[in-house]
Amino acid sequence: LLAPAGAQAQGAYPNRTITVVVPFAAGGPTDTVTRLVAESMSRDLGQTVVVENVGGAGGTLGAARVAQARPDGYYLLLHHIGMGTTPSLYRKLSYDAVGGFEPVAMVTEVPMTIIGRKNLPANNLQELVALVRQERQKLNYANAGIGAASHLCGLLFQKAVDAPMTTVPYRGTGPAMTDLIGGTVDLMCDQTTNTTEHIRAGAVKVFAVTTPERLASLPEVPTAKEAGLPGMDVTIWHALYAPKGTPAEVVNRLSRAVQAALRDEKVVARFADLGTAPVTQEQATPAATRAFWQADIAKWRPVIEAAGEYAD
Ligand code: MLT
Repeated sequence: LLAPAGAQAQGAYPNRTITVVVPFAAGGPTDTVTRLVAESMSRDLGQTVVVENVGGAGGTLGAARVAQARPDGYYLLLHHIGMGTTPSLYRKLSYDAVGGFEPVAMVTEVPMTIIGRKNLPANNLQELVALVRQERQKLNYANAGIGAASHLCGLLFQKAVDAPMTTVPYRGTGPAMTDLIGGTVDLMCDQTTNTTEHIRAGAVKVFAVTTPERLASLPEVPTAKEAGLPGMDVTIWHALYAPKGTPAEVVNRLSRAVQAALRDEKVVARFADLGTAPVTQEQATPAATRAFWQADIAKWRPVIEAAGEYAD
């Protein structure tokens, strides 16, 4: 329990502020999850953990920044399912999207919701499908760039509806939500961590959730399947990463801090209110996170190859 007095001050990790890069704009779902976890990690680590938003290009700009950083445990990345899709979607990157990182800990899995501006002339999913088939590219669909969760969900939706819309890319769904509430874009598919409060406030219209079962946090909202649109089963996982070459003891210390955050009652309660939950403590280990991440890359590769949709 009692560390030698000098050890903490001199070499023990961490002995200064840690930065976690969110590869999307402030105010969006990745930012919300990261800020909750970072605040709790600060208490466990005894150091401030600050969040830096580096949005753009579907999360690849922020990921590049961390892959190219010094591997000392002070500059980290909290990213989502984009870590599973980017290696197949992007053919030219300035960083190694697989080998450039040490996975630290999985954090959460988040359902998505299909939402629209509040005066959209459709009041349920069936009416929305009819509207999209009729208006097609006249409707604007907001997303956070290629590889973003909102992009993947939008692809699934347009495939299920069998009609294209006009895509409007943002640096994150935080600013996209502002425009949806303002009515300058028509539709979006976004994580419940960003949409729940706006749905409850009536600032946007909700058409469906993308999970097989309804959510306790939004019990009145039908699943896409029960509302007549099968094939829309999508949840978005998040994990923390350090640059490749970060010492194992540092990665393990960070993983323990994430695990402590995921046991924090305040984090658990806020996650539940926003329609999500922490992953298990076993899942929040470096080895389990690496296995999940690698499996997700393998899962998405054939899907992306079959779709033939790449970003250069
Ligand atoms: C965000 O944090 O802005 C989102 O996770 C973007 C997205 O992937 O749709």
